[in-house]
Amino acid sequence: MTTTLITGASSGIGAVYARRFAARGHDLVLVARATDRLDVLAEELRKAHGVTIEVLTADLTEAAQLDAVAQRLRAQPAIDILVNNAGAGLANGFVQAPVADMQKLLKLNVEAPTVLAAAAVGGMIKRGSGSIINVASVLALLPEYSQGIYAATKSYMLTFSQSLAVEVNPQGVYIQAVLPAATRTEIYERSGGDISKVPDVMEVDDLVDAALVGFDRKELVTIPPVPEVSAWEDFEQARGTLAQGFSNSQPAARYRA
Ligand SMILES: NC(=O)c1ccc[n+]([C@@H]2O[C@H](COP(=O)([O-])OP(=O)(O)OC[C@H]3O[C@@H](n4cnc5c(N)ncnc54)[C@H](OP(=O)(O)O)[C@@H]3O)[C@@H](O)[C@H]2O)c1
Repeated sequence: MTTTLITGASSGIGAVYARRFAARGHDLVLVARATDRLDVLAEELRKAHGVTIEVLTADLTEAAQLDAVAQRLRAQPAIDILVNNAGAGLANGFVQAPVADMQKLLKLNVEAPTVLAAAAVGGMIKRGSGSIINVASVLALLPEYSQGIYAATKSYMLTFSQSLAVEVNPQGVYIQAVLPAATRTEIYERSGGDISKVPDVMEVDDLVDAALVGFDRKELVTIPPVPEVSAWEDFEQARGTLAQGFSNSQPAARYRA
């Protein structure tokens, strides 16, 4: 029996992950702040699929509540798949945003997934199997399209996934970074935005179904909206070419007086 823990399961992308993994017969641990919404979803999925579902209410920006989720990841029944999905945006640009709001965003989008991955990965390595899905964003690759620190938090999720994969893939642990583009969820309204002003929005079911195709193929990076995978492969190849210069012992000629 596979057990999957999903953060941010009360709405949007996380709720669809819950539906899809329950349909695959996984037991679930659903994490978010809105207990009422988690309870309704849990009851629906228990009835539909006969799976066991734990509801774990937690504000992941609160240290003690984050720790409770981390403890669940270290406990039994073992968690086979961690979906680091909970996240939020921020309405204002960097100059206008209150520092306290930015600190909270860093806790939710960066610190929490890091702490939870750390809690999960040890057991996965011991068992020689397990998966961590980190929900990033295409803004990780397009920081100029986004004001403030949101894109930087999502770049962290991509970079973190790439580093972690190198470290733990050989020990049987699979890491996936998912990079959605604009997807129809509550995230815009929650951060003071208006989704009706966003062109070309993907439906959330389509996004998660595509991400799960990438998951089943064991892709490291899954970008559902990119039409041709060769565009991503070319980007990665260019990155590799850039890296060839990094081992030079001297600064480039253009920087020498
Ligand atoms: N939608 C898009 O266009 C898009 C694009 C790229 C990436 N993403 C990423 O996708 C992920 C999911 O977002 P979504 O689009 O599905 O948005 P959403 O519908 O607003 O869902 C966000 C989820 O995170 C939970 N959450 C928010 N703050 C939390 C906190 N302090 N502690 C615990 N849980 C918290 C929310 O539940 P509670 O309020 O019940 O706590 C909710 O379940 C995020 O990481 C987001 O950055 C979204």
